[in-house]
Amino acid sequence: MEVVQKLLQDPDYLYYLSLTKNYESGRRYCCHNFSHLLDVARIAWILCLERQIKLSRPVVYAAALLHDIGRFAQHEDESIDHAAESASLAEPLLTRHGFSAAETKLILQAILVHRQTPETVTDLLGAVLAEADDLSRLCYNCSAQAGCYKAKRMPTLNGIQY
Ligand SMILES: [Fe+2]
Ligand SMILES: [Fe+2]
Repeated sequence: MEVVQKLLQDPDYLYYLSLTKNYESGRRYCCHNFSHLLDVARIAWILCLERQIKLSRPVVYAAALLHDIGRFAQHEDESIDHAAESASLAEPLLTRHGFSAAETKLILQAILVHRQTPETVTDLLGAVLAEADDLSRLCYNCSAQAGCYKAKRMPTLNGIQY
């Protein structure tokens, strides 16, 4: 997958991930590392295939691989919304790696809404991204479940998973 290779060779992308990694070493709640981003990409693409949603694979993967790149900023300052930060950091990366203006707009919009509950998201790519993000978390097997503000609404709490 070309977009995966391009991002993994992009120094800015790797830098943002490294900043988040530093904040999340020893974190008991979910992390926002490359493994999570790739999980979300794969699940989002499965949802598109199952539902015959006509989105291109590079667009779905780009949205997923970029959706949490600004997470470090929220670790620095809790008042920062990492969805907005991720969208802001993603824009030049998308342009640099050949996404069209229309694709970039679609991806940025999806990143902006990815923290909302999937049912409330009207944007097609955003809804897929938000759902895949939730499905990627293995809450049923998580020792931090009791203290997690998100666990109760997560679809994977009862063992439902992809
Ligand atoms: Fe996120
Ligand atoms: Fe995420």
